[in-house]
Amino acid sequence: MLNVIRPTVAVAWYVTFAAHALHRWPEHRPRLRDGDPAFAEAFAQEVRRFYPFAPYVGGRAVQDLTWRGEPVPEGTMILLDVYGQHHDEARWKRPYSFRPERFLDAGVGRDDLIPQGGGDPHTGHRCPGEAVTVGLLRELAVRLARLRYSVPPQDLRIPLRRIPTLPRSGFVMAVARQSGG
Ligand code: HEM
Repeated sequence: MLNVIRPTVAVAWYVTFAAHALHRWPEHRPRLRDGDPAFAEAFAQEVRRFYPFAPYVGGRAVQDLTWRGEPVPEGTMILLDVYGQHHDEARWKRPYSFRPERFLDAGVGRDDLIPQGGGDPHTGHRCPGEAVTVGLLRELAVRLARLRYSVPPQDLRIPLRRIPTLPRSGFVMAVARQSGG
């Protein structure tokens, strides 16, 4: 049961971030509404890069090892700095700007974008649901861009102390009643 609920809720949180992005940068709406699949994919990837969903992923070293010259004894808790990786100026141009186009201009390496863990999912613990997540987010972002709604006053600040985090008010929409049918 939890294996169904947890990923479903996680994808819904990304859709909330997609709504937040469309509200803050409405210039992306027409291109998404047109359903350009390459742009929809780029938009989904930029939501996963830009927003601070899980800021880090943790694990324990199962044996003594050395990482880039640093000895790591067995049992050490290691945190993968996901947010830092996604906002590293050495990898991303203007990392604090929301620009889906960055994913159209250049491809990403396997371990550049790691909101669902890094490495190879076949041999490690990287999320095996990543392709499903991107596919759902891509489709739902296009639907969102096509939906007619207004955004009532609310608190859309995103607290960085909460893990995982969301806009304080969630994202409340007033959806226009569809005529006919
Ligand atoms: C917003 C969506 C999602 C996020 C943010 C997310 C994130 C993560 C993260 C951070 C991990 C741990 C990675 C690691 O320890 O290296 C993980 C593992 C996992 N995820 Fe996801 N996930 C999402 C959606 C999904 C979906 C849709 C599925 C299934 C269809 C799924 C199935 C799993 C499973 C089974 C694991 C455990 C893998 C293992 O331990 O070998 N996740 N996920």
